[in-house]
Amino acid sequence: MISPANYLLIIDNLLELSHVAYLHSTTIGNAPVAEDAVVKYHREGDAVRVTREMVDVPAARTYAEFGAEAGNFDRWQTSEWRPPAYFLINNGSESTGRRPPGDHRLWDRGEWGFQVYHGVTPATEKTTHQFWAICHPNAQVPEKAREEFYRQCHQVIWEDVGVYEAQQIALDTDPEGASAENVNARVVLDVDGAFFEARRVIGRMLEEEAVAAEAKRSGRPLPRREPAEWLSVRGEERAAVQQAAG
Ligand SMILES: [Fe+2]
Repeated sequence: MISPANYLLIIDNLLELSHVAYLHSTTIGNAPVAEDAVVKYHREGDAVRVTREMVDVPAARTYAEFGAEAGNFDRWQTSEWRPPAYFLINNGSESTGRRPPGDHRLWDRGEWGFQVYHGVTPATEKTTHQFWAICHPNAQVPEKAREEFYRQCHQVIWEDVGVYEAQQIALDTDPEGASAENVNARVVLDVDGAFFEARRVIGRMLEEEAVAAEAKRSGRPLPRREPAEWLSVRGEERAAVQQAAG
């Protein structure tokens, strides 16, 4: 499918799943996804990972209809971006108390869950190819329930697309001239650190690509950059972000 927005907005969205609470409130979301989640983000090499863990919270509609628990349960979401285009989002859940909360369970499905894979590929400055697929064990969604389960999954994707389009229009009409590369954010939240990490990686890759293209065009050898040079740049940017966040 084609999303009517710059690819960076889609990467932002998939790294910040608190929006699930509000935007997807008739399917996979409810208030605890935003209000009760323990959120952590982590960078490993160029990969950026955000985890959200919710303990003893009420099941949102999709989980109550198709999952193992219709009342309160534990739920988690792990969102991992590997540049430039690949996302894995693991969704897991299980009865509260089955296992203690913690990182050990954030990569499995628990008693019920599913994975969503995204390939986020720029088409133009303001459109993006978004390839996506859902993976689940057949036994977790009986055949007679699959049509409705997939309908709800498609609804989630289309709700996101509506927001991407609205965000792109808001940027295009911003009186101060915002863009996907520079959204002119007035507020910085702690969880936004994941976007900043991803955008730093993308910025570095684009710069490396431009340098390589220039070297090829001019016939000059590629300049050598030491890893420490990049680390120093990132450290300065991180300090600036922390300062802006107060
Ligand atoms: Fe979404």
